[in-house]
Parts: sequence; C-alpha cells; structure tokens
Amino acid sequence: MNRVHIKTYGCQMNARDSEAVAALLRERGYAIVADEAEADIVLLNTCAIRDLAEQRAIGKGHHLAKRKRRNPRFLFGVLGCMAQNRGLELLDRLPDLDLLVGTQKFHRVPDYLDQLTAAGRGSGRPATLVDLEAEEGSQNTIRDHFTAEGEESPVTAYVSIMQGCNMNCTFCIVPKTRGPERSRPPDEIVREAEELVARGAREITLLGQIVTSYGRREFPAVGGKTPFVQLLERLHGIPELARLRFTSPHPSGFKRDLVAAFRELPKLGHYVHLPVQSGANTVLRAMHRPYTRESYLRLVEDLRAAQPELWISTDIIVGFPGETDEDFAATRELFTTVGFEMAYIFKYSTRTGTPAAELPGPVPEEVKEARNQELLALLERRSLARHRELIGTTQEVLVEGPAKRPAGRLMGRNRGYRKVVFDGPEELLGRLVPVRITRATVATLEGELAEPAAPGELTFSSQRSA
Ligand code: 5AD
Repeated sequence: MNRVHIKTYGCQMNARDSEAVAALLRERGYAIVADEAEADIVLLNTCAIRDLAEQRAIGKGHHLAKRKRRNPRFLFGVLGCMAQNRGLELLDRLPDLDLLVGTQKFHRVPDYLDQLTAAGRGSGRPATLVDLEAEEGSQNTIRDHFTAEGEESPVTAYVSIMQGCNMNCTFCIVPKTRGPERSRPPDEIVREAEELVARGAREITLLGQIVTSYGRREFPAVGGKTPFVQLLERLHGIPELARLRFTSPHPSGFKRDLVAAFRELPKLGHYVHLPVQSGANTVLRAMHRPYTRESYLRLVEDLRAAQPELWISTDIIVGFPGETDEDFAATRELFTTVGFEMAYIFKYSTRTGTPAAELPGPVPEEVKEARNQELLALLERRSLARHRELIGTTQEVLVEGPAKRPAGRLMGRNRGYRKVVFDGPEELLGRLVPVRITRATVATLEGELAEPAAPGELTFSSQRSA
C-alpha cells in the first residue's frame, strides 16, 4: 500500500512542488512509481490558471474515482492550485476524494498519507482529509529536494525562491491560489544552489510566481540593487555553475539593475522571458498591467542594448474582455516589432473571483481562436527564420541528456535557450560543448560537435564559420 504516482499539471513551479512531495514521501518509506497503473495511491498536483487545466484534472479525478469503486483500498488526492482555488466545492465534483491539500501544505502530504493508509486498515472509509489553510513560512518548505546522500542532480535544476504574487492582474487566479508574496532568505537559496551544483547541476533556474519581486519587502536594496539582482550576483559567483535562469518575471520588475545584469552576468546567457500579455494600452490598463506598449518596447531596446544577442519569449492573452480588432492589431504589431522567438499564446479563460470575470464585452470563442492562430503563424515564421540564421554558426551548448527524438542523440540548449540535437558520447552530459548548426526547424536546431580550433581557444560566437 505504499506505491505513489504523482501526476503534475501546469507550470514549472508545480513540477518543482511535485518533486519536493516525492522526495518527502520517499524519505517516509513510500515508493514513487512512474506507472500510474502500478500505484496504490495517485496524487494529482493541479493547475488553475485556465479552465482547460481544471477540466483535465477533474476528468482525471472521475477516472480515478471509478478505479476506487473497483478497488476500495486505492487512494487518490488532489493537491495544489486547483485544490486551493475550488476548495470544498471540489468534493461535490469528486466525492470519493481521499485527500485535498492546498499550495501551502505540500510538506504535510506524507503525514496525511500515513493517516489514510493506517485508517484504511480499520473499518469504513475515512472522510476526505482536507487542508487548505495558509501557513506562515510555507515558502521555506519547498527546498532541498535531494534525498539520498551522494545522489546526483540533473544537469538543470530548479530552485524555488519565493511564493505568491501581489500584482493582482485582473485576469489572474494566482494571487488566490498561491497567496501573497513571501520570499526565502538568500543565504538558504545560495546554500541550496551550491549543494545542487556540488552534485552535478550546471544550470539553475530560479522559480517563483513573480521572481522580479523577490525579497522586496523582506530584504533591503543595497547599492541601488534590488534583492533579486543581489541574489543573481551571489549565485552567479558559484564557480561550477554554467548558467543561471529565472521564471517568471514581470516587465515592471526590470529596473536599471536587472537590465545591467544582462550585460554584467554572462551566465544569464542570451535569453529572457518577458510576458507582455497585450500590445494595446487600453487592454493593458484593464488587465492592471502597470506598463504601456511604449515602455515595454523601450525595455526591449534597453535589454538588447545590454545584450545584443538576446532571444526573447513572451506570454500573450488573446480575447481579453473588450479586446477590439484594433486592440488585437496593436498586439500583432508589437509582436512583429519585437520579433519574439518564442511565445506562449493563450485564449482568455474566465476565472471566477477575478476582477476580469466581472468585465463586459466577452470575445466570442471563434474570434479568440482566429487571433490565436494568427499569432501562432507569425511566431512560426519568425522562429524558423531566426533558427535558419544559425545554420553554419557554432553555438555553445550545455548538454542536458539524451534527446527524446531521435533516440541515440544528445540534447542540449544554446545560450538563447533553443534546443539543439546532435550526436555525441554520453560523457558530454553536463558539459558546455561547441556545436555547429546544420539544420533548423521551428522548434529545434540540429548540428554536429565542432572541434575547438585549439585548446583554450574555445570561443562561441554567432559568427558564421568560413
Ligand atoms: N486566461 C488565459 N491566460 C491566462 N494566463 C493567466 N491567467 C489567464 C487567464 N485567465 C496566462 C498569462 C500568464 C500565463 C502564465 O498564463 O499569459 O502570463
């Protein structure tokens, strides 16, 4: 009765939370199994950002409820954002649920499973265990997910630095699901990162719902630098660390110090995610995004001045209430002006309880779909063109592991965070290697290992080799 399968929906933070729950369960003697069919217990770590994500998890929950009716000893639970968002109302949809745990209580899951498995030995089905409370200091509980002594880290590792968001974008459920901003102390984050690097990680991605707000209430600015930039600088100093990334930031969090960091901290590489949401000022205002299209474009210019080879990705919502054809045209225009190489384009999804849910002027589904398709087509063209420009260049690639497709090859990423697939020995895992690009598709670059001209002469430029 101790094989647990965790299925994760949604963002990297959710993936990180699931890893932490898995590590805690292993410590408690549970086995984490990859095959759901083999599990005695299935936990769904859920997402609430759009309706589709919730519907998927609820559908899965119905499936698991059927399994439970066939096998009453089977247990299943819902964790995370949807649990927090829907609360007890979820029990109306999934009355057979054994466990319902919110985003500040992941660390309690082992205790609850112990209770449930012990209760299962007695008679009768215990009532659903529910814990959706807020907990002081919960931002410090998702940490140190390495368990066994000497266990290796993957090449790319994630470190949660803060929880929650205070921005109150009118479309967004996150302030409800994740609560107000709370940050972990910098010393603890640095120590965790050092440990991960000592165990083999070469790239660290800092995670939070709004990482650019890191520590702004808890820790002072020093020498004109925000706590977030101070943290980046400290982590950048870890000698064996090759790359440092972060997600998700807010454009308003890019003050002069963070822009300068892209010039001064080479481990940040040539990539930044800069969620714009819309290119129309009226829509930005209604979204409660405190910047304009003009100030956003200026920020892009400043970042490109700091780092000319920057690749920029973004998030866009189409079909926000009241979005007119003109507004969308402004978004399309901004989209081409910036030339995003990567974008996550979402159709607006009404989230009950958010201010935007009360706004008039819903955009018809087919209009949302058409706008979505239009941006996707622009994105494809742009990504492919930019990828093709790299054919013939030698890129610095951090080797992450075997490629999923085609099997037998290696996968890594260049400084612009684009996927590169090439042939090479497994020993290259975790190393920075030069790869000459030979082919490009919309999503992937293909190439071959390039021999450095001479030891010590390893330079990675985007210049075409003759
Ligand atoms: N509908 C559609 N997309 C949304 N996002 C957040 N809330 C919604 C919503 N209600 C998108 C935003 C955000 C990303 C994580 O999800 O673009 O940046």
